[in-house]
Amino acid sequence: MSVRDFTRPPLGDFHTSPFYGRDIISADDFSKPEVIQMSDLATQIEMIERNGGQSNILNGKIACVIFYEPSTRTSGSFESAMLRLGGSYIPYIDPEIFSSAAKGETLEDTMRILDGQGDVTIVRHKEIGSAAIAASSARNPVINAGDGPGEHPTQALLDLHTIRREQGEIDGLNVTLMGDLRFGRTIHSLSKMLARFTDITLNFVSPEGLEMPDGIRDDLRTKGLIDQNATRDLYDVLPETDVLYVTRTQSERFKDNKALAAKIEASKPDYTVTPETMNRAKDSMTLMHPLPRVGEISPDVDSDPRAKYFDQAEYGVEVREALLALILGRAA
Ligand code: NCD
Repeated sequence: MSVRDFTRPPLGDFHTSPFYGRDIISADDFSKPEVIQMSDLATQIEMIERNGGQSNILNGKIACVIFYEPSTRTSGSFESAMLRLGGSYIPYIDPEIFSSAAKGETLEDTMRILDGQGDVTIVRHKEIGSAAIAASSARNPVINAGDGPGEHPTQALLDLHTIRREQGEIDGLNVTLMGDLRFGRTIHSLSKMLARFTDITLNFVSPEGLEMPDGIRDDLRTKGLIDQNATRDLYDVLPETDVLYVTRTQSERFKDNKALAAKIEASKPDYTVTPETMNRAKDSMTLMHPLPRVGEISPDVDSDPRAKYFDQAEYGVEVREALLALILGRAA
């Protein structure tokens, strides 16, 4: 019998959470009540921390954080979340240079090694589908922190938490996604999670060549999100928009496809959000961006009370605290 044949042993109250030991690969891994549960727990954690409270519920727990792509917010907020709950982490920085990946080790083998070092593995990789492959080889729970142009489910969790905080309810909202909808993984996960809610209108504003993939639009329809509108002109949908979610062009995903790059460059409308854009939006609108921004939102907009992208990034810490606490089983 090898070490991999053992199932995880029961560890006192570690198995009381319904999320205990679960992999998080896709936004589809969360039901609507679970999204709400996570958001409520994130709010509770925020309140406790704001009042000077501290928690050690992840004392003795270790996260392996292995990112094969650049990151500031996601890696840092997972690490901060572990530390804030009394746990610790092993950061694999630049694994393609400094880990055995440089020697040709497969992702599957690396995952097996990390099983022995930590209790949860948080992985970002440039290939779509890589998180599922990682999870199938790992014994520890695997959290997808972005798999190429695929998904980014924990970003969607914090995005929905932000929307809930700012708009109160998620049901009934008119949400506009603008920018690179083809390669932007955050909006793939966000739209899947939104499809769990009722009476959502989803507007897609993108340049030619960067439209929301048909496969995702069909999937959303199957899940009941029927009200979908695609346009090149933000002003077609801005007056009705409750949440405007802007993304950057993921140029690193098509740098070798010269024809596509040229097509996008030629057709690219100016989608920069400026104070003028905000003048034409609802007073109650929430403006979001997963960041980093590279010119999509003018810094002149930052002081607008509707601009929530920096708050959104900050909420990422408590949402990931909630998620890690539940996966590692200390909060039922
Ligand atoms: C995003 C990502 O990595 O997908 N950033 C993030 O995690 N907050 C968005 C992006 O890189 O454009």
